[in-house]
Amino acid sequence: MSTLTRRTFLEGLGRAGAALAAGSWLPGLGYAQVARGPARAVLSQARVRADLDRRLLGAFLEHLGRAIYTGVYEPGSPRADASGFRQDVIAEIKGLGVPIMRYPGGNFVSGYNWLDGVGPKKERPTVIERAWNSLETNQFGTNEFLDWCKLAGTEPLLAFNLGTGTPEMAVALVEYCNVARGTKWSDLRRSHGYERPHDVRYWCLGNEMDGPWQMGHMPAREYGRKARDAARQVRVLDRSLQLIAAGSSNTILPTYLVWDRELLEECYDQVDGISLHNYYGNTPPLTGDSTARYLAMNLDMDRQIQEIAAVCDYVQGIRKSPKRLWLSFDEWNVWYRARGGDFADGKRTFAPKLLEEVYNLEDALLVGGFVNTLLRRADRVRVGCLAQILNVIAPLVTNETSVLRQSIYYPYAWSLQYARGHVLDLLVESETYPIEGRGLRPDFARDDQVPFVDLAATLDGPGGQAAVFMLNRDLETEREVVLEWRDPVPTRVLACQTLTGTDLKAFNTFEQPKRVVPQPLDAPQAGARMTFRLPARSYTVAHLATR
Ligand code: AHR
Repeated sequence: MSTLTRRTFLEGLGRAGAALAAGSWLPGLGYAQVARGPARAVLSQARVRADLDRRLLGAFLEHLGRAIYTGVYEPGSPRADASGFRQDVIAEIKGLGVPIMRYPGGNFVSGYNWLDGVGPKKERPTVIERAWNSLETNQFGTNEFLDWCKLAGTEPLLAFNLGTGTPEMAVALVEYCNVARGTKWSDLRRSHGYERPHDVRYWCLGNEMDGPWQMGHMPAREYGRKARDAARQVRVLDRSLQLIAAGSSNTILPTYLVWDRELLEECYDQVDGISLHNYYGNTPPLTGDSTARYLAMNLDMDRQIQEIAAVCDYVQGIRKSPKRLWLSFDEWNVWYRARGGDFADGKRTFAPKLLEEVYNLEDALLVGGFVNTLLRRADRVRVGCLAQILNVIAPLVTNETSVLRQSIYYPYAWSLQYARGHVLDLLVESETYPIEGRGLRPDFARDDQVPFVDLAATLDGPGGQAAVFMLNRDLETEREVVLEWRDPVPTRVLACQTLTGTDLKAFNTFEQPKRVVPQPLDAPQAGARMTFRLPARSYTVAHLATR
């Protein structure tokens, strides 16, 4: 078989271009369409797409349902330590190695008074939490979260309340957390038993302020001015903090992209990044109930990233700013079953069961696709948060005595375990299948070609290791992938595992926790040319030594 050179790749792109409808997403992804044969990719350390900032693979923990109470925090549980933190949960999250954790919301934060959640616990008020109509006892607050982050080995990403809250109280929270001593808010922290500042570096300027469901929802320019005001005051305390403006919360709101442009026109100079959110599902309006369309949804995520980056660059150009914003995809996941109605209404109770989505095999395959997209967009997306981490739309679920790993745990865990160093810029050829937009929601209504095989790869030169993440979207047939390594050439296969199965709707339960789990996959000999045989309906990781 011939080797894939840059020239043949570009010729392939040209041929693909002729066959594709104008505006296809394939060339933008670096994919070429081939008529038949195995998928191929060229990998070379000379073609680096980005340094991998591991914050790209973070997660999200909101005061919502059973995420905090009875999840992270359950005093009195035999699984809890003296502070009430569930140790089995900490062990899972520490084991995953989650690099950054967004907190405390989400919709919750837009009505949150952080002062309610600090100081002596017995003096903290119980309040009605209005985002999810629940009872919030405030027994877990900012200091508990920051203590917990240390135990779980993760960095905090705190959000301000810019809904019902003011810039003044946002800056007060930064002073409370980060100033050493001798001021009103720093001394309040010290009086609460925290002598040393927490030094929180990453902050979200509110949450989903474009959403009519959001407490304090307002027009883009108004929000942009509020964010600018808050950011400017925060910078007086510390210029180096990383501040993220709240961008569009999905791609279907009529304000999508206009919101981002307008708010950035107001606050571009004061912020470092902008957030993107999206949730995906296999539903009639989104996919026509087609798994083939569903498994292509990570390419919609690619598209959203491209579009928001384009808006940022447009505003940069207009402002003639030397600064290029990075993106924070700080809420992403599959979420479509436990949504709305009773799933989202806590009925004024404490720790209600909300948004407890059960994930199956096809969801896990798509989450693998999202990991691939985030990796190949690492040149632009610096922070990413799987939403969420525990109990609420989450890979991990607790009962009184244990923690269950849902199907989506595995692709996420692989990314954390194996993605290291640089993300490689791959040249990929693959056969494709068509998708059709007719009848679908406009933001997912595309007539296009989808590669059967989706690839992402990282290379850690100094560590002497590489990882390749491979999604086979073919529902019926095994697919071959030929990896052509230019430099370095792998010397050993350290691990090769796949997630697959005959029942795409299979899911794990506490009674049957191993229905969807990885299995070893036969890997080829390490070398310059490696042919993997990916099972139908699978997501696979190969971990390779390169010296
Ligand atoms: O993650 C669940 C909710 O989804 C968050 O609170 C909100 O930001 C988004 O709409």
